Amino acid sequence: MKIAITKADTLKKHPDDSNLGFGTYFTDHMFNMDYNPEKGWHNPRIEPYGPMQMDPSTMVLHYGQAIFEGLKAYKTESGEINLFRPKDNLRRFNNSGHILCIPELDEDFVLKALFTLLEIEKGWVPGEPGTSLYIRPTIIATDPYIGLRSSNTYRFFIILSPVGAYYPEGFDPVKIWVTTKYVRAVRGGVGEAKTAGNYAASLYATELAQKEGYTQVMWLDGVELKYVEEVGSMNIFFAIGDELITPELNRSILPGITRDSVIKLAKSWGIRVTERKISIDEIYAAHASGELKEVFGSGTAAVISPVGAIKFDDKVITIGDGSVGPLAARLFNTLMDIQYGKAEDPFEWILPVEK
Ligand code: COI
Repeated sequence: MKIAITKADTLKKHPDDSNLGFGTYFTDHMFNMDYNPEKGWHNPRIEPYGPMQMDPSTMVLHYGQAIFEGLKAYKTESGEINLFRPKDNLRRFNNSGHILCIPELDEDFVLKALFTLLEIEKGWVPGEPGTSLYIRPTIIATDPYIGLRSSNTYRFFIILSPVGAYYPEGFDPVKIWVTTKYVRAVRGGVGEAKTAGNYAASLYATELAQKEGYTQVMWLDGVELKYVEEVGSMNIFFAIGDELITPELNRSILPGITRDSVIKLAKSWGIRVTERKISIDEIYAAHASGELKEVFGSGTAAVISPVGAIKFDDKVITIGDGSVGPLAARLFNTLMDIQYGKAEDPFEWILPVEK
């Protein structure tokens, strides 16, 4: 399929790289492609970024049949643009699509489309340390129909946003609130899909946490409210004794690509990494015995986010001395160095953008 390109008549003023925040600026162009049962995915095109006209009955607005991804493009010192594990994102995108009854995309074609879009928008990849161009591929159900079924038609789009740190704390430790009442996802549900509804389901408890002065919610499993699943928009790791533990993928946890990168890096450093169930009681017991060394989250947007304090059932624990732990710092620095092309890439995670 040939990608049609329509360039914007006027280009936007670029924001100040040192004050980007997260997710508020968008580049000049976006990629669009449509699906219908007769033509399959068709009409791939790059167009000026702008509003989409939608019928009020458009299915995604009512039933949330939507999936998305998040990945980043990084500018290296020599000015090249690196993508980090984009093929893994596209594989997960199709897996989310499968769970949400959304037709499969040709991953090779989408990667080519992303390269084409990035070639046009490469001037938007910010250069300040810690900044990147966040890439948000999304598919929404577009039938104008309000009966409940999966849509017959879809829109796939990719938008780009120059970003800095996700959390206002930057790399400073965040405070996490464990909810004993609300759950993000349940066994047999859609928890492992990157779908809009999972994020909508997280909002209420997150607001409660924020009212108490906590940045994010730590979710426990939806059946027993006992085992840790994930944190806000990240996967979670606990360094207890000489073991690095992260909850096993049980189909209600998002299979994070940064999570997988942390596991692979830590194992390559000789650290014993275990993917298993871990209860909140075990974490508190490890804290009481002095074995809980570090807690940190991982995610594309957040990269590595150290946790400084946890509140569960009115009991607050401080992790270590509340500052960034050495393992979180080593992982953060190594990941960033690989992403920005400053360190060796032993796992071949980097894909430079091809012209
Ligand atoms: C990401 O980490 O890329 C996400 O999609 C999380 C989102 C809440 C920003």
